[in-house]
Amino acid sequence: MGVGRARISASILDSDLSNLAYAVRRVEKAGADRVHLDVMDGHFVPNLTFGAKTIKALRPRTELPFDAHLMISEPSRFIEEFLDAGCDSITLHVEIEEPLEPTLKRIREAGRAAGLAVKPGTPLSDLEPYAELLDIVMVMTVEPGFGGQSFMADVARSKLASARRWLDPGGASEVQVDGGGKVETAEAIGRGGTDVIVAGSALYRADDMAAEVERIRSIAAAARAASLVG
Ligand code: DX5
Ligand code: ZN
Repeated sequence: MGVGRARISASILDSDLSNLAYAVRRVEKAGADRVHLDVMDGHFVPNLTFGAKTIKALRPRTELPFDAHLMISEPSRFIEEFLDAGCDSITLHVEIEEPLEPTLKRIREAGRAAGLAVKPGTPLSDLEPYAELLDIVMVMTVEPGFGGQSFMADVARSKLASARRWLDPGGASEVQVDGGGKVETAEAIGRGGTDVIVAGSALYRADDMAAEVERIRSIAAAARAASLVG
């Protein structure tokens, strides 16, 4: 676990969807480290958002890395499009029914970071068969499907510190937290040694987005440093 700072990946799910280009520029200007792209198919989750074509259109609008979070049942059908759209990392859900290994391998083969997300009710041990293929473990601290939900502190407590076990030590090795990331939850997230914090609605609710990004980051970093010295 690097001792560096926790990175902020800004979700644009709760931004003004009529102006996504402005949304990605805004989070870049606010100092976010990445853009988190919530792709929902209305099947794996009860919501429908955007796909690879929208991501491809947004790609030239910012230098920030794109983290795609695929809440879709059949990523294998669309993986070439998401790679072509310029995603830097692609995270699938371990709960889907289709085989995961070929798609994770394809993502890595294309030189991108491959990840698996786990819903709150899913044990981390479900990641075991894929551990050697994982650059990213994304711990969901809300039920996937919507922004603005309450953070599940018990899930963070029970999963964050041990999530690293399921990562390929030779890979990008990132533990990400998704759901309810904000100033009030940053300490609990940081204490778990998290590398990347996804923040969505909290950024768009803030009067000053840049100050919010920095506060989340510094609170998490302090908690992480404190957890290292025990
Ligand atoms: C929920 C998404 C999250 C969400 C985060 O299914 O995966 O990325 O947009 O938004 P907040 O930070 O508002 O929980
Ligand atoms: Zn997400």
